Amino acid sequence: MNDLGRLEDLPLEYRERLTEQNLVPLWPSLRGVLPPHVPTRKTAPTHWSYQAIKPLLLRAGELTPIEKAERRVLVLANPGHGLEKMQASAAIYLGMQLLMPGEWAPSHRHTPNAVRMIVEGEGAYTTVDGEKCPMSRGDLILTPTGLWHEHGHDGVDPVIWLDVLDLPLVYYMEASYHVNGDRQTIKAGEGYKAYARGGVMPTPVFQRSGKRYPMLRYPWADAKGALEAMAANDAALDCVQVTYVNPETGEDAENILGYYALMLRPGQTLQLPARSPACVFHQIEGQSEVQIDAHRFTLQSADTCCAPGYTPVTLRNLSATEAAFLFMADESPLHRKLGVYEVRA
Ligand SMILES: [Fe+2]
Repeated sequence: MNDLGRLEDLPLEYRERLTEQNLVPLWPSLRGVLPPHVPTRKTAPTHWSYQAIKPLLLRAGELTPIEKAERRVLVLANPGHGLEKMQASAAIYLGMQLLMPGEWAPSHRHTPNAVRMIVEGEGAYTTVDGEKCPMSRGDLILTPTGLWHEHGHDGVDPVIWLDVLDLPLVYYMEASYHVNGDRQTIKAGEGYKAYARGGVMPTPVFQRSGKRYPMLRYPWADAKGALEAMAANDAALDCVQVTYVNPETGEDAENILGYYALMLRPGQTLQLPARSPACVFHQIEGQSEVQIDAHRFTLQSADTCCAPGYTPVTLRNLSATEAAFLFMADESPLHRKLGVYEVRA
């Protein structure tokens, strides 16, 4: 309840004098910017159906050649923020991108960090900092801040992937820009081949490559294998989840957003506590139900939804016989670095 003085309580002549001097009284707006106990969140629980997106994205392929689009993307925009803001949450941007056979999305680099979660199609690749990263369903490919990246496609069918960026935050900071570049020369060596097996590291172990991002591609086969092994190893383990990290430091794979893969056992219901960061769920395999407050979404394969922060989420595997696999992205690294990360019981 707002028991502080209202703007209208002030004489018009006084308010005009404040405006002339670029001054604003705080007290009428104080409860708005510092509400009691729980922040005001524009991020609305929102579901995006892949079945609905795919035909519209393929139509974009017919309507707009890649040369006219540079990146052919339909943005998954949260209506709570206003669609024109092109953001899923305060810090997360989501886009579904299409590359047709033979097309090339030219090299550029930018300040926002990005990742791609491959949704459908074979034969495409992303070249990041000279490393050619093949794109297959479920693979996670990093294009961190400042690294050159471009996309090519040698296959025969359309390739579609989900882009996740911290663009809304970097744009808000007035730090978002890009630079175009020439086609990259492919260098030898692929980080995922060196680092994809946990527990065995390139020798010498403590001699780091000096790269901030030694691993750029996280193949789905390896992440899924890790989840299945964890589930088989401990039948009592409730939250079967892995975090995508820098294999040399154990830190989050990127600086601002965190990335995870989660397995739901057949028939499992998993309750996630209310945490301060907003979170995105993308169904890689199987079908899940996601409950966020009073909202209940069914995620079919390749569907995506987002949940605001400070909100408990319940995930349910809709199959009694098959495991379900989800990719998740959240704002945890950002919240931790800023000291505002919270888990509420
Ligand atoms: Fe980019």
